[in-house]
Amino acid sequence: MPSNSIDSLLHEERRFPPPEEFTGSAVATGALYERAAEDRLAFWAEQARELHWDTPFTETLDWSNPPFARWFADGTLNVAYNCLDRHVIAGNGDRVAIHWEGEPGDSRTITYAQLTDEVKRAANVLTSLGIEAGDRVAIYMPMIPEATVAMLAVARIGAVHSVIFGGFSADSLRDRIDDAGAKLVITADGGWRKGAVLPLKPTVDSALAKSAKNTVTNVLVVKRGENEIEWTDTRDVWWHDTVHGASAEHEAQPFEAEQPLFILYTSGTTGKPKGILHTSGGYLTQASFTHRNVFDLKPETDVFWCTADVGWVTGHSYVVYGPLANGATQVMYEGVPDSPAPGRWWKIIEKYGVTILYAAPTAIRTFMKLGREIPQASDLSSLRLLGSVGEPINPEAWIWYRDIIGAGKTPIVDTWWQTETGAIMISALPGVTTLKPGSAQTPIPGISIDVLGEDGTRVDPPNGGLLVVSEPWPSMLRGIWGDPERFKETYWSKFAALEGSKYFAGDGAHVDTDGDIWLLGRVDDVMNISGHRLSTTEIESALVSHPIVAEAAVVGAADETTGQAVVAFVILRSKQAGKQTADEASTLLRTHVGQQIGAIAKPRQIFVVNELPKTRSGKIMRRLLQDVAEGRAIGDTTTLADTSVMQIISDKMKA
Ligand code: WTA
Repeated sequence: MPSNSIDSLLHEERRFPPPEEFTGSAVATGALYERAAEDRLAFWAEQARELHWDTPFTETLDWSNPPFARWFADGTLNVAYNCLDRHVIAGNGDRVAIHWEGEPGDSRTITYAQLTDEVKRAANVLTSLGIEAGDRVAIYMPMIPEATVAMLAVARIGAVHSVIFGGFSADSLRDRIDDAGAKLVITADGGWRKGAVLPLKPTVDSALAKSAKNTVTNVLVVKRGENEIEWTDTRDVWWHDTVHGASAEHEAQPFEAEQPLFILYTSGTTGKPKGILHTSGGYLTQASFTHRNVFDLKPETDVFWCTADVGWVTGHSYVVYGPLANGATQVMYEGVPDSPAPGRWWKIIEKYGVTILYAAPTAIRTFMKLGREIPQASDLSSLRLLGSVGEPINPEAWIWYRDIIGAGKTPIVDTWWQTETGAIMISALPGVTTLKPGSAQTPIPGISIDVLGEDGTRVDPPNGGLLVVSEPWPSMLRGIWGDPERFKETYWSKFAALEGSKYFAGDGAHVDTDGDIWLLGRVDDVMNISGHRLSTTEIESALVSHPIVAEAAVVGAADETTGQAVVAFVILRSKQAGKQTADEASTLLRTHVGQQIGAIAKPRQIFVVNELPKTRSGKIMRRLLQDVAEGRAIGDTTTLADTSVMQIISDKMKA
């Protein structure tokens, strides 16, 4: 069981002090904590000054209108210049920025000088397509270098990108394009995934055909999959026809620190995804600070690999902005871990001499199941540090990761953060912290975290409570695109009665007597499937949008590999009775959810039931459904309107 229940965690006694290789030479030392404790804002100002500012800022934080923060607001900078030009100017143009590995086995090596040129060319093309500062550009791409180039080119001209993960369906893509009012879509014909080409451009075509707002004037298409696509001459433009021939002269203009940098949609507790808004100076400060210090980055010698897709926030902060701002050399891989064979990741690590690996617990647990022989067939001796992100890592998987991947010696940094926080908030520092498997440990220097009870009082160990961030931080979200009220309501209203504004993260946590934090999963209707956020309500609305469904309830059930899995219970409309078997209905509905949201949201199981457990006021009791879905004895049913329904459901599931 991957779940981090307080009971099992409290019995975790193993401790791993920093190894000698780190104690003397790590980038981050205990002095960072001291400096941050002495003067938090001065500390962040010092970190921000590691970047190149065209106009230096004089004010660090403006928190006069909470929850709307402004960091370094009177300073100006160019985010792409910080990730590219300044490294070339410093004489590091020949350093490899990206070792890219395509799924079919092709590869490309791109230096900082080459990446800078390509971004300049792409920036010129964006301008020629009419994109101006503040315009929104949707990016729907496979994991190819052009995805990074596209993001940086958009940032370079002060426009705002909205990257949409390539696994999302046409409907999801359309909703996000319309919500942001995107003017341009950058995509590819297709990309390689699981040994085949996954078409992307056709999905963009159908999304745009269904668009209610028609804000998109052009679609810029990278040729990758070589799959057949349709072409709209007045709208579609090939990347190779335009970018390759464009001028590589482009001077980066400075923008205000609070210039919007990107919108990234994430699932919340309602059916409608939220467009999380991040801005420039504060975001880049914390993304680069954490990347350097949490991962102990030595840019001259390290080869960093974050396995996340650029469609998620981890890909934004630790594939694009953090590593590039720090002049790191990194690996970028297009495909899935088991193509063409389960050892692909380990072969890549051997091939490029990866020193720092940052991955999700789901992947680790999958490898664990497949057996240690697979990683042991590759030489992993270059690895010196491992990271984990996206969901709680259970101590068993933590130990396996360290022993089998890290040769029993690498530190593991378990990093807690969110799309909303923009960068890592809680993590060990490898040269400082004595590690405890299963705990994300302490807030990084400059970050204030509390664990509160429902009434807002601090909970004492060993009790669990709700995780809050109690002071504003540089890479915090600046809002929800187009919806300031929802921003206040979702994140800042829970503890509004307390003094000071507290950001409510939606996670349960427990603090032990050493002050280390243990994450206990979401406390709201958000599920975490393989480290990806999905909302129960969003999948329920997808299910009830199908004509055969009368009612639906979705729960996240504990799953050994993926952390949680989507389990749905549906009641079919009465006129459907007898028209199809439960199995047929279930297959039909899984496909429907895939079309509505994307393959990642397809329920693992769908149970057709006659009744759903409801309270007398009509609220579905998901907790009881979760008991059934996880095969537990059914909990307290006293508030149920009809107590027999649970028995019927649970009998049905056993059948
Ligand atoms: C969960 C991913 C435990 C948490 C960066 C959070 C974690 C949600 C960890 C954010 C961790 C992320 N330990 N839980 N180290 N990291 N989470 O927005 O529930 O995709 O609220 O950001 O993932 O997911 P998101």
